[in-house]
Amino acid sequence: ARTAAVIPAAGRGVRLGPGAPKALRALNGTPMLIHAVRAMAASRAVSLVVVVAPPDGAAEVKTLLDAHALPDRTDFVVVPGGDSRQESVKYGLDALPPGIDIVLVHDAARPLVPVDTVDAVIEAVRDGAPAVVPALPLADTVKEVEPAAVAGEVEPVVATPERARLRAVQTPQGFDRETLLRAHETVTDDVTDDASMVEQLGVRVVVVPGHEEAFKVTRPLDLVLAEAVLARRRL
Ligand code: C5P
Repeated sequence: ARTAAVIPAAGRGVRLGPGAPKALRALNGTPMLIHAVRAMAASRAVSLVVVVAPPDGAAEVKTLLDAHALPDRTDFVVVPGGDSRQESVKYGLDALPPGIDIVLVHDAARPLVPVDTVDAVIEAVRDGAPAVVPALPLADTVKEVEPAAVAGEVEPVVATPERARLRAVQTPQGFDRETLLRAHETVTDDVTDDASMVEQLGVRVVVVPGHEEAFKVTRPLDLVLAEAVLARRRL
């Protein structure tokens, strides 16, 4: 079974504050995207990495990948992204060659996922699960609210799901290629992850343990945490 990783990296990352597209922000001097690509290429099972670049930044991203040392056994392709994460992933899937039968989808915004987590996801797909997501239990209690029409207004609580049954989902999410393609061809609703599209097909999705270092770099404080994790790894 040959495995490819698709990395949607076409988002602007406005929540991180002003500056370059999020994936191109540096962590300890190296762009977040390069960390994410290395995290996928670190798995011996991954033979191809497809990077989905900002539509006007594909050439820049190609130059960036060429400038950083990446393992010889892994191929790289850069394609331009779309207006939504979902569309960007679709363009990445369109670039997959024949012979790939397992696909990982990994957010560039999760640059520090450990290789053991990547391998655990691939392993579960190889063992027969059509869709696999790494996830962690929640520390916070989660409330469902009626979202305020105007930011800053109070929001009525609608429900409190039982925390022990909730999981915070990470990436890479792993899929049987045919299943993921079918999901992207069939589901048109707005979604925030790929597994939910597969769920809408009625296909079973399973969870494997995620990792705290697979957190998503979203807000300025996350950059501080990411650099601290990198510094600790170098010790
Ligand atoms: O916005 P969010 O943090 O959910 O984005 C998750 C991932 O999807 C990021 O890696 C981002 O670069 C990517 N993305 C994309 N194309 C878009 C929007 C987001 O590839 N149009």
